[in-house]
Amino acid sequence: MKAQTALAGLVSVAALFPEASAEVVVIRNPSVEQAAAEALAVPLAALKRSAPEAPNGYVPTHVDCPSDRPTIREASSLSNNETEWLYVRRNNTVSAMKTLLGRMNITGLDTNSYIDNAAKNVSALPNIAIAGSGGGYRAMLNYAGAVAAFDNRTTNSTGAGQLGGLLQSATYLAGLSGGSWLVGSLFMNNFTSVESILSQDTSASKSGDTWQFEQTILDGPEESGLSILNTAEYLKDIYDTVQDKNSAGYETTITDYWGRALSYQLINASMGGPSYTFSSIADADNFLAGDTPMPILVSDGRARGQLVVNGNATIYEFNPWELGTFDPTTFAFAPIRYLGSNFSDGVVVQGDMQCVRGFDNAGYIMGTSSSLFNEAFLQVNGSTGLINEAITAILANIGQDNDDIANYPNPFFGYNNATSRIADTDQLTLVDGGEDGQNIPLHPLIQPERNVDVIFAIDSSADTTDVNGAPNWPNGTSLVATYERTFLGIANGTSFPAVPDQQTFVNLGLNNRPTFFGCNSSNTTSMTPLIVYLPNAPYAYHSNVSTFDLQYNDTERNYIIENGYDVVTMGNSTLDSEWPTCVGCAILSRSLERTNTQVPDVCNQCFQRYCWDGTVNSTANTYVPAYKLPQNDVLAFKSGGLKGAVPSLAFAVSAVTAVLMVM
Ligand SMILES: *[C@@H]1O[C@H](CO)[C@@H](O)[C@H](O)[C@H]1NC(C)=O
Ligand SMILES: *[C@@H]1O[C@H](CO)[C@@H](O)[C@H](O)[C@H]1NC(C)=O
Ligand SMILES: *[C@@H]1O[C@H](CO)[C@@H](O)[C@H](O)[C@H]1NC(C)=O
Ligand SMILES: *[C@@H]1O[C@H](CO)[C@@H](O)[C@H](O)[C@H]1NC(C)=O
Ligand SMILES: *[C@@H]1O[C@H](CO)[C@@H](O)[C@H](O)[C@H]1NC(C)=O
Ligand SMILES: *[C@@H]1O[C@H](CO)[C@@H](O)[C@H](O)[C@H]1NC(C)=O
Ligand SMILES: *[C@@H]1O[C@H](CO)[C@@H](O)[C@H](O)[C@H]1NC(C)=O
Ligand SMILES: *[C@@H]1O[C@H](CO)[C@@H](O)[C@H](O)[C@H]1NC(C)=O
Ligand SMILES: *[C@@H]1O[C@H](CO)[C@@H](O)[C@H](O)[C@H]1NC(C)=O
Ligand SMILES: *[C@@H]1O[C@H](CO)[C@@H](O)[C@H](O)[C@H]1NC(C)=O
Ligand SMILES: *[C@@H]1O[C@H](CO)[C@@H](O)[C@H](O)[C@H]1NC(C)=O
Ligand SMILES: *[C@@H]1O[C@H](CO)[C@@H](O)[C@H](O)[C@H]1NC(C)=O
Repeated sequence: MKAQTALAGLVSVAALFPEASAEVVVIRNPSVEQAAAEALAVPLAALKRSAPEAPNGYVPTHVDCPSDRPTIREASSLSNNETEWLYVRRNNTVSAMKTLLGRMNITGLDTNSYIDNAAKNVSALPNIAIAGSGGGYRAMLNYAGAVAAFDNRTTNSTGAGQLGGLLQSATYLAGLSGGSWLVGSLFMNNFTSVESILSQDTSASKSGDTWQFEQTILDGPEESGLSILNTAEYLKDIYDTVQDKNSAGYETTITDYWGRALSYQLINASMGGPSYTFSSIADADNFLAGDTPMPILVSDGRARGQLVVNGNATIYEFNPWELGTFDPTTFAFAPIRYLGSNFSDGVVVQGDMQCVRGFDNAGYIMGTSSSLFNEAFLQVNGSTGLINEAITAILANIGQDNDDIANYPNPFFGYNNATSRIADTDQLTLVDGGEDGQNIPLHPLIQPERNVDVIFAIDSSADTTDVNGAPNWPNGTSLVATYERTFLGIANGTSFPAVPDQQTFVNLGLNNRPTFFGCNSSNTTSMTPLIVYLPNAPYAYHSNVSTFDLQYNDTERNYIIENGYDVVTMGNSTLDSEWPTCVGCAILSRSLERTNTQVPDVCNQCFQRYCWDGTVNSTANTYVPAYKLPQNDVLAFKSGGLKGAVPSLAFAVSAVTAVLMVM
């Protein structure tokens, strides 16, 4: 059925490009690679939205600079904006944390008075972050389940065995690639709850609803009386807006198509909200009032002509005020609202109308964090010969031509010349945040300036392959990559708890149940956050669907979300009735240490159960996880895991072939 939809989609792609069709715009003098890239960009590009602030829709526009002209700053501290916002937010987390910890039954500690006292000295107050990995729709939906479980607005989330209120207690909410779709989608939709997005399904017309993945990103949103014409209009709109940006003088790439298409699925606004900017979050009432955590998305820097990204890559973050990095290469931040302006040596070049607004389109930024095509390409290339050589060569050309990267007129031009790798390039070129192997967005959260105590790390990575037993489950690869990077020069003061090799993760079950890393902070060189690792595992549903599965009906979507809810609550605490207590202990751990407070016995018992104790077992074994909940809790239909991959890959290949054939 999926393949059929894909085929139907091909017809519309073909309709977009042949010069014979008069109604649709065609690429001017496209190269084979351009046409293939654009055809591929379309199916890979469909998610969500924000606040309509851009002056001219998707097209960045020159405006007069504000009297306080935008500048680049050194990354030696947090921004004033973040520091000021933190006062408001962290104060708001006090009552949320009291309510949460009060429910967690931490025998031997009066959590109410403990938090009240800690609140008098902000450095004593627990500082919580949540991070969701990449992995396409699987990751987005698994993370959605986790966030729903942490959100006290979710029905029944504050009963016994539940974790609702953790989201309200958190300072940071980070996302990478598929994880960035969840974070971006919530913030572009007024930080609504996962539950209310899903409840849109009950409305008679689904038209314009968010998170409709029943039709692939290639087909576009479902409309009443769906026809090829609607899909063609959708594709034409995406195509036209990107062309308009291009005509305005900005070098567009595959990421522009991808980001526009994602917006249709993720942003609840007409035409995917082309005017929604990421910087508009900083002006949203609920964000300003500190009623939401701070969103952070992650991307990797990758130079043109470079295909592989390693642990040495510069890692960039997008937050509501800035784009930049603490890495000692670029080591700078730019005001995100004025991206696209002609920065040089840290200032906007003098002249009228030299500032640019609207470059920070929310879909473009989510698309940048998830320039999945290239990631897909890298995985496809290493996979089992599903793809014939000719197609592989075409895909390789696209990668080498750098059509997969996202271009940002380089705001760091002429800045930090001595250390920067990009001080003399006109474009800052960014790619999917998972390309350096660090698929969980931990980098912004382990910066010493942020003083994070505990990170809830939701890992939906597809690390295992059929060679390892069952495919598309995490096996700790991302944590290993983050740990190893702290030994490189680029680490610049970040530290991360020791983690074992992936085979140990598998053999000890550390990738199958929650595990705490870094419980004993004296085992690290400086104060490192405690990591609460929450790996995707089959509680009620086999959610190990392929990263390249682009199509989900509402039932399967909801099953993956429900399984994600189980992943972080251990099946509503049915697998350990003390799990919420142990989560509370993890939240308090670093704070108790700073305030020299005796650790309650119940917490020590938790740490014995959930902390990795340093044991290693690297004997080769396969991983084929069984359902963790009783059979009567298992949801109706089984997913075979790999099932999505074959049609999706075949579909991508066919799209390229179709374009080549019509050329
Ligand atoms: C950031 O803070 C500066 C003052 O430090 C203020 O002028 C500016 O408006 C703030 N930016 C945003 C987007 O809130
Ligand atoms: C902190 O929050 C409390 C309510 O939770 C509020 O009464 C108080 O004014 C806030 N303090 C600051 C400095 O914002
Ligand atoms: C959720 O937490 C916030 C912050 O503590 C609180 O203001 C709100 O009333 C809570 N909502 C529910 C439904 O419990
Ligand atoms: C709280 O934990 C104690 C053990 O520390 C246990 O005896 C008690 O039943 C728990 N209470 C609830 C409401 O779960
Ligand atoms: C909430 O819990 C009640 C009682 O266990 C149950 O009947 C109801 O279905 C639950 N609602 C949701 C939305 O899970
Ligand atoms: C955004 O959500 C808040 C609740 O957090 C609500 O009060 C407000 O009206 C919403 N704003 C819009 C524009 O929907
Ligand atoms: C990282 O990059 C620096 C130069 O920027 C180089 O000296 C170093 O060898 C690289 N390290 C690795 C592990 O690639
Ligand atoms: C950095 O390099 C640019 C040219 O690439 C130059 O204009 C600028 O003066 C340099 N800055 C410093 C501080 O050396
Ligand atoms: C873990 O995942 C990595 C990355 O996909 C893979 O290369 C490795 O074989 C896996 N190892 C185990 C033991 O699952
Ligand atoms: C981080 O890098 C910056 C810029 O190179 C440097 O000034 C700073 O001292 C470094 N911090 C640490 C802790 O190494
Ligand atoms: C939804 O998708 C699942 C998994 O692909 C499939 O088994 C099920 O039959 C589908 N349900 C409907 C109503 O299409
Ligand atoms: C403690 O640190 C050492 C060296 O960093 C590491 O090998 C060991 O696994 C760590 N132990 C735990 C329990 O984290």
